[in-house]
Order: sequence, then structure tokens, then C-alpha cells
Amino acid sequence: MSLSIQTQVPSRAAPNPTARVEDMEALLQKHCPLSEPAFSVLLAHSRAVAALAARLARQEGLSDAGAALVEEAALVHDIGIFATRAPSLGCHGAEPYYRHGVLGAKILATEGLPEHARVCERHVGTGISRRESRSRGLDLPDRDLVPVTLPEILVCFADKFFSKNNGETPNMKTEEEILISLAPFGPGQVENMKAWLARFGDPGRNKTSTDT
Ligand SMILES: [Fe+2]
Repeated sequence: MSLSIQTQVPSRAAPNPTARVEDMEALLQKHCPLSEPAFSVLLAHSRAVAALAARLARQEGLSDAGAALVEEAALVHDIGIFATRAPSLGCHGAEPYYRHGVLGAKILATEGLPEHARVCERHVGTGISRRESRSRGLDLPDRDLVPVTLPEILVCFADKFFSKNNGETPNMKTEEEILISLAPFGPGQVENMKAWLARFGDPGRNKTSTDT
């Protein structure tokens, strides 16, 4: 994937009262009612991703609306995991885990948050192209599910730095750890991440775990 980034952030429609940072966690709880400690782990992960993505949004000079979208969408980007089969994350649904992006997007669209939904559906791995989906035989809509706008890319990029396997204090992964974790999914995934690292820098360098 070439590193073409749409820097223009779509203008937001009339403010949706639910589209506020403080409401995103309630939305997460409503649609992703994991038992404890799984929910707290998910919340800690989501907050860490949101903090990093928001910092990058400021670094990239996004508008206030764009930065708000980044932070809000990051808080709910994993809202679709509840219906998936991921016992280690406390999820006991029937869906394959890789479908949590499109499942979450459906939820967010239903909540009247189409921009957040697009961030959500495009954040798995470094995005999944139609070609990759077809070649791997994935059960996904027959279209590119790849982050395109800067808010979409920042949430996807920031997400790669935090696993959900470290309890409620997520550690920031190193660049090497991220590239190793993406390698099984093909060279395209690794190349995308390298391009983003070259573009945005390694935010983990000289930073603490949930640095904002
Ligand atoms: Fe995530």
C-alpha cells in the first residue's frame, strides 16, 4: 500500500450529543458488556490507544474536530470484540476475531456515528485490502477495509502499540515487537507499518507506557 493519506478531515455534521469523549466509554460498556477483569483490560487498552492517537493528532496539526474524532473513535475502536471468539480476552462469541472491525462499525453506524464506524472497520492489522481478504479467504465485505484519512490511520497506527494481554496497565510495544507480530499476516502489513513509522516516528521511543 502506498502511503497516501487524505489529510482533509470530513466536516462533521451537527454535533451528535453521544459523540463526546465522555460518552464513548458508556457506549463501550453498553455494547461490549464483558465481565471483569476483561472489560477493565479493554478500557485500559482503549484509553491508551486514545491518548497516543490524540497526541499524534496534535503533532500532525489536525483540527479540533479531527482531533476529537481521533480520540472518540479510539475509545470505541474495539467495541465489536464482544461477539467474537477470543477467550483470552473474555470474548465467547461465534465470530472470528478479525471481524471485530466490521462488527464494531455496524454498532457505531447504528448509534449515528458513521465516521467512528469507518475508523473502526479499517483498524484491524494495518487495514485489510480486498485483495488480501480474498487471498486469505476472509469472511469480510468485498471491498478495501484500509485506513485512508489521517484520523483513520492514526487510530490504526496507535492501536498497534498496545496489546490487550498486559492487564490494566498496557505496556507500549517496541517497533520490533510490532513488526514481528504483523509478519505472519504478510509482507504488506509489515511494509504499511514501516511506512507509518517513517511518517510519524516511533512514539514509544523515550516515552512511558501510557504517555500522552
Ligand atoms: Fe485495539
